[in-house]
Amino acid sequence: MLVILKQTAKEVGHEAARMVAAAVHANPKIVLGLATGSTPLGMYEELVALHRAAKLDFSKATSFNLDEYLGLSHDHPQSFHYFMHSNFFSHVNFSPDKIHIPDGSIRANYSEYCDGYERAIKSAGGIDLQILGIGRNGHIGFNEPNSSLASRTRLKELTQETMEDNRRFFPAGAEIPECAITMGIGTILDARRILILATGESKATAVAKTIEGAISAAVSASALQLHPEVTFILDEHAASALTLRDYYHRVLELTKKYTPEKLA
Ligand code: PGA
Repeated sequence: MLVILKQTAKEVGHEAARMVAAAVHANPKIVLGLATGSTPLGMYEELVALHRAAKLDFSKATSFNLDEYLGLSHDHPQSFHYFMHSNFFSHVNFSPDKIHIPDGSIRANYSEYCDGYERAIKSAGGIDLQILGIGRNGHIGFNEPNSSLASRTRLKELTQETMEDNRRFFPAGAEIPECAITMGIGTILDARRILILATGESKATAVAKTIEGAISAAVSASALQLHPEVTFILDEHAASALTLRDYYHRVLELTKKYTPEKLA
């Protein structure tokens, strides 16, 4: 695992966007796995800026979003559909038929729907680069604690903690979704390369358990230890509980020296 330590959340977004842009340049037909939440907002802003200023071209790229709340229509302001369109897709030249986001408005046959999402990822050739955030409880996507490390896309019941974390995005008094459709840990681990971002003190414990703790279904993100191509980009607050920070800095310097392609 490569751990890139930055000072600020802004730098995290900037570095993530730089890596995504390099990957899109290298392979215009890239299949991206995309995430929502407050963490990747800076990355999307920067990618939009690169599209405008440097003609970063998404026209041949395909995307699969990680998850969506169950029960929210596409135009619901708190849906991840709305998030993706307002923060990213409406500002760049992604082809609408290459955008995939789980449909939170389905009312039945969840397994069939989720199996179809898995098939769509497969028939697009699999995900080349997966972007992730991390929850305070160590979830990736909506893979709450004790999700099977082999799980695939499915309907998932949200923990009370996650529902409370999400409350800030909803108007006062609104009902908070209690389930989501999410890619599984197994789906995420099938991606060829993974970029996981974390900012802020509230993520420090989850980040430390993920990188330096044991692999455990209790911390879903710890399953990333099984993946050979994972890069963490952290601000100093999210990194504050890591014990090997000096070593991670040294690994980064030596990576620049010996295997710079890993940072492209
Ligand atoms: P956040 O969410 O970026 O809004 O903190 C991350 C997550 O829960 O995966």
